[in-house]
Amino acid sequence: MAIILVTGGAGFIGSHACLRLLETGNEIISLDSYVNSSKNVFKAINKICELKGINHELIKIYECDILDKKSVEDIFQNSINNNKEIQGVIHFAGLKSVKESEANPHKYWEVNFGGTLNLLKVMKNFNCRKLVFSSSATIYGETNKFPIAEDSQIKPINPYGKTKAAVEQLLLDIYNSEPNKWSITNLRYFNPVGSHHSGLIGEDPKGVPNNLFPIICKVANGEIEKLEIYGCDWPTIDGTGIRDYIHIEDLVEGHKKALELMFSEKKTSYRCINLGCGHGVSVLEMVKTFEKANNCRIKKVFEPRREGDVAKTYADISLAKKILGWKPKRSLYDVCKDGWKWAKTNPNGY
Ligand code: UFG
Repeated sequence: MAIILVTGGAGFIGSHACLRLLETGNEIISLDSYVNSSKNVFKAINKICELKGINHELIKIYECDILDKKSVEDIFQNSINNNKEIQGVIHFAGLKSVKESEANPHKYWEVNFGGTLNLLKVMKNFNCRKLVFSSSATIYGETNKFPIAEDSQIKPINPYGKTKAAVEQLLLDIYNSEPNKWSITNLRYFNPVGSHHSGLIGEDPKGVPNNLFPIICKVANGEIEKLEIYGCDWPTIDGTGIRDYIHIEDLVEGHKKALELMFSEKKTSYRCINLGCGHGVSVLEMVKTFEKANNCRIKKVFEPRREGDVAKTYADISLAKKILGWKPKRSLYDVCKDGWKWAKTNPNGY
């Protein structure tokens, strides 16, 4: 049991992580600016906690932007004043749209890199040196070698991916500057999807979603007329793009394990670990599984390839299995069932 600061605690991954950490006896301090999320997520988390008999008072929430260093310092200081010194951090807060990052790189470098730099300075000042960083598979360059292992070339092609790769580099430099003090794990996500099995919390994209799974949900509830499939001529089994979709509950379990490892080992560490399901799924396979799991039809049409897309990507997850003792437990069918449970009952999000 530890006291963990979760930055971006109200976001899609952050909220599921907060819940999982509460379930496993940790105390949580959530920091979020709510720029891309809603405070209402905590009402839903409280409800799940009540249903499960978990003490939801073990979560404290702060509205705070990581760019505001003074406010981040205040959170660390308050936690000391309350005898609840922050022992570790999971850092999710950041911007995540590839498209927006291309149009507005300043903003992405400022928030994703500058925000992380602020956080790291404050952590150092408060002698808090255990960090799990929310990295991304986008940092890998194009490759012909599958599955993609952690030692694959790092060569991001968009500003979003570049900010994630740069933060990893910064974290390595920081670790190397005081290798006996810092423990840092970069978790590189493939495609997180689905929602908590209760259907009470889930992904709540602001505006029109760009990602496949939330779009399929919006087609299922009639909000979007049909799914536009970007390309039918990729060199894949059925011509559509292949990705590695990981159930959000499996993903956050990986964070829990990474933290537990840091707190249990005597030595410090710097690690980069992939989190994915470990195999590829095509767009058509995803659609078929969704239809079967939820007994519905998804109207679809083939469109030209989307700029910036690759034919396929999927993870080598052997390192996560070996080091964290983690492996995904939920299937694509579970992703589709759980994700739709949330989307159908919360068509307007929180
Ligand atoms: N796709 C469609 N139609 C759509 C949306 C997506 O056919 O309307 C296809 C894409 O072409 C791709 C697959 O569905 O083949 C998955 O696309 P997503 O947009 O859901 O996911 P991406 O793999 O393109 O990107 C995601 C996140 C990034 C993250 C990356 C990690 O959006 O932020 O995974 O590798 F960086």
